[in-house]
Amino acid sequence: MGRLENKVVFITGAARGQGRSHAIRFAEEGADVIAVDIAAQMPEVGYPMATPDDLAETVKAVEALDRRIIARQADVRDLAQLRAVVDEGMAELGRLDFVLANAGVMPTYGETARRPEAWNATLDVLLTGVMHTVEATRPKLVEQGEGGAIVITSSMAALQPLARTLDGGTLGMLGYSAAKAGVLNLMRNYASILAEFRIRVNGIAPTGVHTPMTQNAMIEEYFTNGDPRDLVSLTNAIPVDMVEPVDISNAALWLCSEEARYVTGTTVPVDAGATLR
Ligand SMILES: NC(=O)c1ccc[n+]([C@@H]2O[C@H](COP(=O)([O-])OP(=O)(O)OC[C@H]3O[C@@H](n4cnc5c(N)ncnc54)[C@H](O)[C@@H]3O)[C@@H](O)[C@H]2O)c1
Repeated sequence: MGRLENKVVFITGAARGQGRSHAIRFAEEGADVIAVDIAAQMPEVGYPMATPDDLAETVKAVEALDRRIIARQADVRDLAQLRAVVDEGMAELGRLDFVLANAGVMPTYGETARRPEAWNATLDVLLTGVMHTVEATRPKLVEQGEGGAIVITSSMAALQPLARTLDGGTLGMLGYSAAKAGVLNLMRNYASILAEFRIRVNGIAPTGVHTPMTQNAMIEEYFTNGDPRDLVSLTNAIPVDMVEPVDISNAALWLCSEEARYVTGTTVPVDAGATLR
């Protein structure tokens, strides 16, 4: 408790899943939160996305910990929207220390995943959206002059091919994997650029995580009817089907904490050994 007292964290995709877990975990350690989420459905995504009620739940959970939170609906594909929320949040909360580029979509299976729109949506949200998140925040961290930490959520999809069959290789899956690999390159360049300001930039590569992104009809259908050769790529070495959101939050927390003060430009797999299989 209290490792992040008087700090402020900006989190994208904070309405539910890992983003909400990050907000709660950082608040438990004393941080105030600036939260954004699209909290609306994108037509290219074949499973339900977050709602304004979900975002309101995150607000309630952080306030229950006696921490302040500014939460707004904003789309990471729109840099101006992100800048406006960062300005508003910093005016209210006074500073910015950490940035968690977490928002994501995974339109990888089913009919919608085969369309070119699925490729565009994954690159727009997962690659351009991460660039926007860093561009909206890094001038603030540099100007503040007190260092900081940025954590970008990648995926094991960046480290090994998840698609092994014609059927599994949808445009959505290829786009998801390419974007998650792309952000690791982005992460290393930002880490290089920002090191002189003591702003650290790192990535996390989770295996499957129990969140609404993986608990929905699109995924169930794939796990029931998908080609077993594709499913093998989702096997963890440690005997657990998926990890929990808090496992990713704890990695993000460590990467932002003083304990990781000289860790930058690297990727932490939280993958239950999936890349060993
Ligand atoms: N769940 C997994 O198995 C898994 C594994 C590896 C990596 N990831 C990554 O972890 C991150 C968090 O995912 P999650 O598991 O919590 O899923 P989730 O679907 O529960 O949460 C993602 C959140 O991002 C928001 N979002 C989507 N597009 C947005 C946009 N354009 N602008 C703003 N917000 C947007 C959604 O509304 C949602 O609230 C994502 O980047 C995802 O790709 C997830």
